[in-house]
Amino acid sequence: MSTYFSNDKKSIPPIYDVKICEQTGFLMGGKIHEWSGPTESVYSTVSIENPESGRYLGKYPLMNSEHSLKVLEAAEKAWDHGRGKWPTMNVDERINCVKNFAKDMVKNKNQIRNMLMWEIAKSAPDAEKEFNRTVEYISLTIDALKDLDRNSSRLIHEQSIFAQVRRAPLGITLCMGPYNYPLNETFTTLIPSLITGNIIIFKPPKKGVLLHKPLLQLFARHFPEGTVNTIYGDGREVVTPLMKSGKIDVLAFIGSSKVADILKSLHPDPHRLRSVLGLEAKNAAIIMDDANLQNAVNECISGSLSYNGQRCTALKIIFVHRNIFDNFMELFISGVEKLKKGLPWEDDVKITPMPDPADAQRITEIISDAVDKGAQIANPSGGKSQGTLLFPTVVTNINSSMRIAYEEQFGPVVPVLPFTEISEPVKYIIDSPYGQQASIFGKNPEKIGKLIDPLVNQVCRLNINSQCQRGPDTLPFTGRKDSAEGTLSITDALRVFTIRTLVAAKDSSENSELLKSILHEHYSSFLNTDYIF
Ligand code: G3H
Repeated sequence: MSTYFSNDKKSIPPIYDVKICEQTGFLMGGKIHEWSGPTESVYSTVSIENPESGRYLGKYPLMNSEHSLKVLEAAEKAWDHGRGKWPTMNVDERINCVKNFAKDMVKNKNQIRNMLMWEIAKSAPDAEKEFNRTVEYISLTIDALKDLDRNSSRLIHEQSIFAQVRRAPLGITLCMGPYNYPLNETFTTLIPSLITGNIIIFKPPKKGVLLHKPLLQLFARHFPEGTVNTIYGDGREVVTPLMKSGKIDVLAFIGSSKVADILKSLHPDPHRLRSVLGLEAKNAAIIMDDANLQNAVNECISGSLSYNGQRCTALKIIFVHRNIFDNFMELFISGVEKLKKGLPWEDDVKITPMPDPADAQRITEIISDAVDKGAQIANPSGGKSQGTLLFPTVVTNINSSMRIAYEEQFGPVVPVLPFTEISEPVKYIIDSPYGQQASIFGKNPEKIGKLIDPLVNQVCRLNINSQCQRGPDTLPFTGRKDSAEGTLSITDALRVFTIRTLVAAKDSSENSELLKSILHEHYSSFLNTDYIF
């Protein structure tokens, strides 16, 4: 019997087990519609009963373009050219709907957390963190929207004009999240878009669909008909017609720049499309010769290998000053070798199976490509694997002909390169097509200070003596070059899904009386000076 894949069903702690989840419907126009067409079966790479094919988790609809367009019709009806119930509802009421949704969502925590563990092989603490962080994101978004609304809940008087300036929704948002944070990253666009009055069509990632099932009922229960709708299936089949229709107003997509470019290019009026994109990254760490070595090693291990390196913010290449290269490698390799490999519910597990066998295969090919071109695997267990559980692999002797040198690996392989002049890693970052984040480790204020200025014009977050990361969610999260479009944070997201809009009237006694009456009688949700408590 292998170490990581036990045939013993009893080894699954009951609190982390899941029941088969057959999702046979899709959410459209406020109802879950039964799907009788083809379905996609979901197998977990967390293999217990069947290490060959994985455990059967359930299935979901493989919709076609015809149904996708029906979903679009339902969304258009809910938007109704901006006249729908949800887009014209006042902010206070919208907040209440989202609050009630979140309350019910929390009741489904265990089921969602467990499905995260089985569908994408995320460890129990990380799955729990993803859930809690998402709920907190919703609550912080509500607070931020209240603040925004309070600041706009008054008329201003400028050059004899009364005006009320608010942010209005844009229309129909197509939300597509990634498999590595199928709940959190999807909700960091879905929730701000929803709460600001937009209509949502939501397509979960290929891996990470079933965990959303309990939420479909809640979307139907807490929001007016057609406010949130879902589609499933092959993107070319179900997303292409939506984009081609020209009726998607916002594309919120986390994935590859190649796919983002294709999707954007399908829209017949690209100037009408707002894009909020989280794309590839190749975040570099630079370790100077005076760095606190143990801290740098710890941050680089967690930065490059948390959730098997499947984070857009992961450190994906490490540059170490030649003077300390050997010492760094010794500590780094020793730390990497100690990372516990296993199944998501095991105590202290750090490395779990890759959820998609195709990704595990891709990583294996990236390592072979490097080795074939002269790279060395530096750690004793590097390059080994069991099923889709890939042992973390540290590679050195990297040159620019290797895929690992420039491609986003999104898996447990870490290239480490020595440098002599700081211009070497800086040139790498300048030449990189990506510009999300970087980390610099060192103690010399002058050297660090001088490095900050060129790098902040290359990446959007520079981390000093710490790994790259997205959080806290109140901070801006974005990227330059091929890494992102639009900025997300609790407050920035509310802006990105809305447009500044105002009602203005010349200052005359007639207009003053008119405005007063609209305000006193609450004839408008937009022109409204109520304070949200
Ligand atoms: O994959 C990208 C995630 O948003 C990473 O978030 O840096 O907080 O783990 P994190």
